[in-house]
Amino acid sequence: MSKVTVVGAGNVGATCANVLAFNEVADEVVMLDVKEGVSEGKAMDMMQTAQLLGFDTTLVGCTNDYAQTADSDVVVITSGIPRKPGMTREELIGVNAGIVKSVAQNVLKFSPNAIIVVISNPMDTMTYLALKSLGLPKNRIIGMGGALDSSRFKYFLSQALGCNANEVEGMVIGGHGDTTMIPLTRFATYKGLPVSNFLSAEKLEEVAKSTMVGGATLTGLLGTSAWYAPGAAGAFVVESIIHNQKKMVPCSVALDGEYGQSDICCGVPVILGRNGIEEIVELPLDAAEKAAFEASAAAVRTVNGALKEVGAL
Ligand code: LAC
Repeated sequence: MSKVTVVGAGNVGATCANVLAFNEVADEVVMLDVKEGVSEGKAMDMMQTAQLLGFDTTLVGCTNDYAQTADSDVVVITSGIPRKPGMTREELIGVNAGIVKSVAQNVLKFSPNAIIVVISNPMDTMTYLALKSLGLPKNRIIGMGGALDSSRFKYFLSQALGCNANEVEGMVIGGHGDTTMIPLTRFATYKGLPVSNFLSAEKLEEVAKSTMVGGATLTGLLGTSAWYAPGAAGAFVVESIIHNQKKMVPCSVALDGEYGQSDICCGVPVILGRNGIEEIVELPLDAAEKAAFEASAAAVRTVNGALKEVGAL
């Protein structure tokens, strides 16, 4: 029997729950929201697709009733406000820090052994806040950002190559911010061949830039944050954990000397399995990539500093 809770049944949380159910990642998926009836309604709506889509996962919706989330194996936190056009993810910290902290504490009361996946923005800082305020071992706190950014990177690469996105490999490391993420163009491949065999340096630069502002582009188009890929990326991370798939996925995790950083959560490739973070993978970065990672970590650290200002730490 496996159980996953998704806190926050807005666009991202509901999409995440929907993908988890459709792919039968867990036996039971609980959605919890503060808005009366929203989780219950969305859960019922999704359950009414079970016969149409042929899945067996049970979906449960509840309003702020953490008892219903008891004994979850994994808890996904999507709570908080999304960004509006023109806003950075970092501007959300004042509101979202308080929400994420209290959600994380409530969740832990009922699921003391859960692995926590953080989606709320600013994602690296919210992951760091969960790490610092819950006192859990670092393998159990995972920020989803790199999974999303890498999927966007592969999308833009596939568009430039004119190929199927599933035939492309690529990772994005660093912070989940418009200026902090680092699409690792040098390591990206198409059918195992470096993408530089097919695309010019200028084109690759363009792909990297589109990836970095991928979330902002969608916010501009939609008037709010994107949800299909963020929700699916959350479900992808959960699936690798619940099914012990040991996939290598860039995620925001606590660094303790790896990549020359400590006392920070930042995006690096990790092996995801039943213990959460099974291993942090150290990539052989060149001097430019190392410098970019350092700058990215410095920017994340500055945002983390605001946690004290807003009284969250
Ligand atoms: C995005 C938000 C979810 O990148 O951070 O779309």
